[in-house]
Amino acid sequence: MKKSFLSTIALAGAAALALTACSSGSDDGGDSSADPGSGGDGELITVGFAQTGAESGWRAANTESMETAFSEENGFELVFNAADNDPAAQISAVRGFINQGVDAIVIAPVVEDGWDDVLQEAADAGIPVILEDRTVSASDDLYATWVGLDFEEEGRMAGAWAAEQYGGEPTNMVVLEGTTGSAPANDRAAGFSAAIEGTQIETIASQTGDFTRDGGKSVMEGYIAQYGIEGIDLVFAHNDDMGLGAIEAIEAAGGVPGEDIKIITIDAVKDGMQALVDGKINYIVECNPLLGDLAAGLVKDVLAGNEVEKTVYVEDQAFDQAAAAEVIDSRAY
Ligand code: AHR
Repeated sequence: MKKSFLSTIALAGAAALALTACSSGSDDGGDSSADPGSGGDGELITVGFAQTGAESGWRAANTESMETAFSEENGFELVFNAADNDPAAQISAVRGFINQGVDAIVIAPVVEDGWDDVLQEAADAGIPVILEDRTVSASDDLYATWVGLDFEEEGRMAGAWAAEQYGGEPTNMVVLEGTTGSAPANDRAAGFSAAIEGTQIETIASQTGDFTRDGGKSVMEGYIAQYGIEGIDLVFAHNDDMGLGAIEAIEAAGGVPGEDIKIITIDAVKDGMQALVDGKINYIVECNPLLGDLAAGLVKDVLAGNEVEKTVYVEDQAFDQAAAAEVIDSRAY
């Protein structure tokens, strides 16, 4: 996917403006420009949403955001499928949406590869596809638009903090990777590695925990069995849930997370932020899951024939302990 970071804020702003325009015309969240006409006057827009699964706290917040935005009162009938992180099951759910003849399909792709055929089938059937959250490696001619986060930048932000805090002395780091082949796992790894290049941080082990708390815990148990608490200085977990699993493993082995072993994660969901405030996680880069309104606005624009940007980025921030303590009570997820 081609990225233009410069255009990120402008695009997100434009989409937000489009959304404002959509919701200001009537109580049901749509004005005449947002009515795609595909369902006719007063008819609901049927949207098939192929979610990855329910692997993390982030995913739960994202699903809730999507279900709220694609509600009947906003003019949608949502057909929801969660694929339990199984790429084949997700592709067959999308095929089901095509056979059903939905008006539009929204996908949060489990993995980047393998989408060419089914996206072509959707295009042949005249059903627009809108990607949210994760990206695909297929040609961007095969989908209308994508809305999500800059995963590489998230990895870079996490790596820059690690480099600054720990890069000046020999540091043994273990990595808890997200789902193999997924855009966030690929891009966060790339961003982080680039940021710690030339420092004394050494990656001694890197394995997938599949973005789940149990996965993070059991991979961390393996690392501790191999290296001992004393042999590991730093954990980089590709999401909060795996970091929270690592905390359980460290505590069970008699270690003190955040002190004996430092932990950096990505997401900034409630449980992760609480662990940061408690000193068990040392730094978190946000990944905002509240993409529903932007995705719904894009679906309406695409169906109405309005021009949309190919990529719509939502900005992330990062938190150390003090910053987390300041905002934790006011966060929506
Ligand atoms: O694609 C976003 C990632 O997927 C989140 O970081 C992770 O928690 C989720 O499972």
